[in-house]
Amino acid sequence: MNILAFESSCDETAAAVVRDGRTILSSAIASSADMHAIYGGVVPEIASRKHVEAISGLADEALRQADLSKKDIDAVAVTYAPGLIGALLVGVSFAKSAAFGLGVPLIPVHHVRGHIAANYLAHPDLEPPFLCLCVSGGTTAIVDVSDYTRFTVLGGTRDDAAGECFDKTARVLGLGYPGGGPMDRMAQGGDDRAFSFPRAHVEGHPLDMSFSGLKTAVLNTIHNASQKGEELDLHDLAASFAAAVSDSLVPRVMEANAMTGHGKIAVAGGVAANSRIRADLERACAQAGARLWLPPLSLCGDNAAMIGSQGYYEYLAGRTAGWDLNARASLDISKG
Ligand code: KG4
Repeated sequence: MNILAFESSCDETAAAVVRDGRTILSSAIASSADMHAIYGGVVPEIASRKHVEAISGLADEALRQADLSKKDIDAVAVTYAPGLIGALLVGVSFAKSAAFGLGVPLIPVHHVRGHIAANYLAHPDLEPPFLCLCVSGGTTAIVDVSDYTRFTVLGGTRDDAAGECFDKTARVLGLGYPGGGPMDRMAQGGDDRAFSFPRAHVEGHPLDMSFSGLKTAVLNTIHNASQKGEELDLHDLAASFAAAVSDSLVPRVMEANAMTGHGKIAVAGGVAANSRIRADLERACAQAGARLWLPPLSLCGDNAAMIGSQGYYEYLAGRTAGWDLNARASLDISKG
């Protein structure tokens, strides 16, 4: 089954063709991140306009790369939630027209379910049940993937997402947007114990996390130093920050693993590209005897291939949408 998939929930417009949920035939992505970098973060209206400009050309490009024609497409999948509402609406409207025009089913896909499915594209042997640490610019959650379309959130952030924390810190340091990659590079060779940043605990909810205190602590450190005219070692600062984020995530994933007994852990989302988190997870999983699946960097960020993969499993579960499908800015993964 060939699925033509679309993603437009934030600042990446993407189209892809995926066969039977596991094979990428094509993947085309256009990012408006350069435009947002001028403002230090995503400007929703600009994101929507850029999606409108890019989506039709990307659909053609995805078919061309896959060496398929429109009649070879069996279904259309699209991210319909969660995300920036104007941005999502561009993808949803285009996907509806495409599915209607081609006379094929329309499949609605939850964005974070898509991020998890990126692992199916990279790892043919990965099948539910497993645990997934979902870490992106908008989401930080430990999800029990009991089946391809059955998800339970075991723990998550009470405030900021981990990616948001990386981005805000990078912005103050003048590292541009999105800041996770530059912060990761800055951390290389730094002393991760040079600064003691907080690792928060949520009383009575051992698997929940909080990043706002960490964000405030790192921003205060930067501002205090600049007010006193002191120079900070940015490599040490970035390494200490990454260690605090990782310490907030990895032990909780391992605790969730011990609770569920799955012994299988995957990671998803843009922050899954972080070298410190990847290394800590590798070490912790080796110690616990758990198997770890890390998506390749190319599938960590937003793309449409992951939507095509999850779309296939949603379709198998009987989930298609009518022409009244609407976008939703927020939606729990268990209900998506
Ligand atoms: O999954 P994604 O592309 O978009 C969302 O669905 O949110 O994730 C983007 C996030 C941004 O916050 C970006 O700074 C972060 O992923 N990111 C990283 C790294 N690469 C991207 N964060 C930490 N380390 C990285 N290497």
